[in-house]
Amino acid sequence: MSDHKVTIIDGKAVAQTIRSKIAAEVCRLSETYIKVPGLAVMIVGQRKDSQSYVNMKRKACAEVGIKSIDLDLLENVSESELISKVHELNVNPDVHGILGQLPLPKHINEEKILTEISLGKDVDGFHPLNIGKLAMKGRDPCLFRPCCPETCYYILTRHGITIKGKNVVVVGRSNIVVLPVSLLLLKEDATVTMVHSRTKEPESIVRNADIIIAVVGQAAMIKGSWIKPGAVVIDVRTNAVDDPGKKSGYRLVGDVDFQEACKTAGCITPIPGGVGPMTVAMLLKNTLDGAKRVIEG
Ligand code: GUN
Repeated sequence: MSDHKVTIIDGKAVAQTIRSKIAAEVCRLSETYIKVPGLAVMIVGQRKDSQSYVNMKRKACAEVGIKSIDLDLLENVSESELISKVHELNVNPDVHGILGQLPLPKHINEEKILTEISLGKDVDGFHPLNIGKLAMKGRDPCLFRPCCPETCYYILTRHGITIKGKNVVVVGRSNIVVLPVSLLLLKEDATVTMVHSRTKEPESIVRNADIIIAVVGQAAMIKGSWIKPGAVVIDVRTNAVDDPGKKSGYRLVGDVDFQEACKTAGCITPIPGGVGPMTVAMLLKNTLDGAKRVIEG
């Protein structure tokens, strides 16, 4: 029997703690100023995964007393119509944050839409100027840092894990998580390596990581043997795999083989119940901060 002990991070519990603090702050704003924070949650089209994320975000808003302003647009909405919607939200005083669920349909230029979002309401932190500032040494994002990268940072600092000088390996290639989390941890003086589908010998690079951040979208691709003993493993992507034993016919797993990883890792986030709920809580936190800036100055 191995006496290896792994810390499994309970993302749901941490998210609940963050949400309770946000709810108390929303209550205070409401009592003091008769105003509540508002988050515009915009979805274009019928993608099942996006709908499920958006529903979670709207439900989370309701739970803490943030008003969600819901925009459900048809798949064939034109780029100019979408831009006008964003402009309306930019000047709407009840809206303190604007979230456009990604990906957008192919006929819409995502960068164009993100550029139109007012910097003061860019709670996702995806405005090209915010990402550019995140990329540059000595410059910080104007107001908001992207939610999932911020969650990874929060997990590390909350568990007393030093980032400076550590080997961080981020697996994947997305604009939403991989790029901003790499930039954010580089700012914190980590040595960051990005491993993607064209990387040679990814396994040997991952094995050198003190901190692994997995954002691939391939169920259990990172095996226990890839993980250095004691490494911190942050598993971000949720994958559905067939499971005839479940009523739904599927179960959710991460990019990391969780059972195997638990035998080696020092600390790990599970799926479900890890990064996901905390990321939604960060979005609420960004919205609250945006509202406080406007309401309290
Ligand atoms: N699609 C997947 N994750 C996200 C996210 O965090 N924000 C937005 N806007 N779209 C997403």
